[in-house]
Parts: sequence; structure tokens; C-alpha cells
Amino acid sequence: MKTIKFNIPSLLKDEYKNITRLRANLHYSANGEFTNKCSEWLKKNIKCKEALLVHSCTAALEMCALLINIKEGDEIIMPSYTFVSTANAFVSKGGTPVFVDIDLNTCNIDPSKIEQAISKKTKAIVVVHYAGVSCDMDPIIKIAKQHKLYVIEDAAQAILSTYKGKPLGSIGDLATLSFHETKNIHCGEGGALLINNQKFKERAKIIRDKGTNRDLFNQNMVKKYTWVDYGSSYGLSEINAAFLYSQLKQAKKITRKRFSVFKLYHKLLENLEIKKLIKRPTVPKYAGHNGHMYYLIFKDNQRNKLIKYLKQKKINTVFHYISLHNSLFGRLKSKVGSTMYNTNFISNSLLRLPMHIKLSKKDILRCVNEIYYFNKINL
Ligand SMILES: Cc1ncc(COP(=O)(O)O)c(C=O)c1O
Repeated sequence: MKTIKFNIPSLLKDEYKNITRLRANLHYSANGEFTNKCSEWLKKNIKCKEALLVHSCTAALEMCALLINIKEGDEIIMPSYTFVSTANAFVSKGGTPVFVDIDLNTCNIDPSKIEQAISKKTKAIVVVHYAGVSCDMDPIIKIAKQHKLYVIEDAAQAILSTYKGKPLGSIGDLATLSFHETKNIHCGEGGALLINNQKFKERAKIIRDKGTNRDLFNQNMVKKYTWVDYGSSYGLSEINAAFLYSQLKQAKKITRKRFSVFKLYHKLLENLEIKKLIKRPTVPKYAGHNGHMYYLIFKDNQRNKLIKYLKQKKINTVFHYISLHNSLFGRLKSKVGSTMYNTNFISNSLLRLPMHIKLSKKDILRCVNEIYYFNKINL
């Protein structure tokens, strides 16, 4: 019996062909032909004002912290149910994450809990579009405007998803994407910083280019380039960008395939939800999603038992985030801005099923059948 893997990074066409083109270009470092092509694709499809290719979503989040001048004691509101980079990018610049609970239906930050967490030190709200399903952005933007806070979208998982028809990544002042191999569209390791607030455009390039005005030099706008600001080596190599461009060109096809996997799981697992043995993901009306993930929520520690059971059946499933407010470093470096019932519950009870474009209908049926069998019910 073959193992059904949790993830197989997608590889379609032209990824390696593009890389061989670099021999002729003789440009392997950042900001070459393919970086520009990827950037244009992102601007066109996400409708953001600028898209800078960087080596990870983590790098893009760190750039956000620098751009909004995070300093010792500044507070940033965000969910605790997220990847460590969402918080660490700000903590590494002296900021303090203030964690707010999530909504049980979407696992996204609960907008009704945000205001109570705002203080004089708050600088920004960082939202995470979990599983590629949008946060409810209208109330969040309203709160941010009232309190003069920046909104940053951690859209690591959300390429080509929408909120009320608007692409995710085009709504906040800044947004970040991940092109890690676990994401829908990837280049091994990679990311992008998306800019919607014009005021960040020029400085973001300086921060990307090690704190220098090299971009102006490349455009013949200054005679020499020099050290002008904070920064680091955040750019994406052309080798990765060449691979990525091929993936971006096929992004809609990849998304359609993942979406069909999501839909099939959703249909087949309905009965278990009706019998109240699991809860399936809820996709609110305002969200158009990209099939990044299919997860189930279990009661009473069934999740861990099922992971073990499916492993014996050669089906790889995984849990997800350990909530950051409960982590070793999180306890030292962050604050909790609301109750955390939902975060604690989801952290202990969410299970992710295999999701990738190589998954066949037969594989999906095998997974679902085993989940029914585990629950002692026939499909
Ligand atoms: C919500 C979120 N933010 C940030 C990241 C970090 O992405 P990267 O690995 O590209 O740095 C991840 C990674 O999975 C993530 O899930």
C-alpha cells in the first residue's frame, strides 16, 4: 500500500527550463529578469501597488517591522494561533505581540476582541488569513482607522484568495506572501512583500537592499550607492525567481486543482459533521479561498488518536500551530489581550488532511474511508 503524503510540493512545467535561461542572462543574484517578471505578475493579479520578491515570508514580515519603525515597547495586535514568524519578526525589533483570540469557525482573529487589546503603545494589527480563508477585514480596517493603526496582512497561505472579491494582500498597508514548498505556489524558499500604502514604497527597496540606495543607483538616479538606512539581505535569488515565475504562470491551474480536492473532502465528510463527530472548515460568504488546506476539528483528544491510527494506515496527517502565548519564548516576550479559549481549543484539536495537486480521487476516498472507519461509521 502506498503512503499518502501530507504534502508533495507542486512541480508542473518550465521550472527547470527557466533556470537554464540564467546561463544566458549571467544574473543569478536578486533583482534580475525573473524577479521583475514575478513582481509584475503579483502586481497584476493581487492588485497591490508594489511587490518585492524576498527570500521568505519571514523576511517580508521583518521588513514590515522595520518599515513601521517598531521599537522597544511598541505593541502589535495579532492572533496567537499562527506561525512563529508572525510574532518573531516584530519581537526581534523590540516589539511586544499582544495576542487576541480567534473565531472558532475560521481560526482567524476575532475582530470583536481587538479593541479591548488596544493601548497607547499599539502600532499595528497583523491579521493572518488562516488556510487561505480571509479574515473579516471590514471591521478590522474600521478599528485600525479609528485608532490610527497600520494593518498588515500575513497572507503566507492566501495567494489568489479574496475578501468580498478583493485579492488578499491588497487590503492592508502592507502584506506578506510565502513561497515555501508547503505553500500552493512555491520556489523552495521564497516570499514577497506587498505594498499598498505608497509611503512605504521607496524605503522598502532600501531595506531589501541591505540598507543601501542601490535601487536608485541601478536606475542611474545616484552616482554611487551607499548606506542610508536599516536593512538586510532580503532579496530572492534569480534561481528561485526563475522557478517561481513558472509556478506563478500556472497558479490558477494549481489553485483550481487544490480547490477541487477541498470540495471533495468537504462533501464526503459532511455526514460526520451531521453526527457531530467532527467540525469541518467554515468558509464565510465574504471569502473566496484557494484550497490551501483541508482541516478537521475534533473533540476530546480524538485528534491525536486519529493521527496515530492514520499513520498505521500509511496516511500522513498533521496538527498545526502550538499557540504562541503558550510557547517558551512567547511567554517571555508577549502579552495576552483577550481570553484564549478558542485558540487553546483549536491548537489541541485541529488536524490537517493530505493536500496537494498529486492527490487522486482514490487517495481522497482512502483517507475519508479510514476516518469514517475510525469513527465506527460507514461512508
Ligand atoms: C501564517 C504564516 N506566516 C509566516 C510563515 C513563514 O513563511 P516562510 O517559511 O516563507 O518564512 C508561515 C509559514 O508557514 C505561515 O504559515
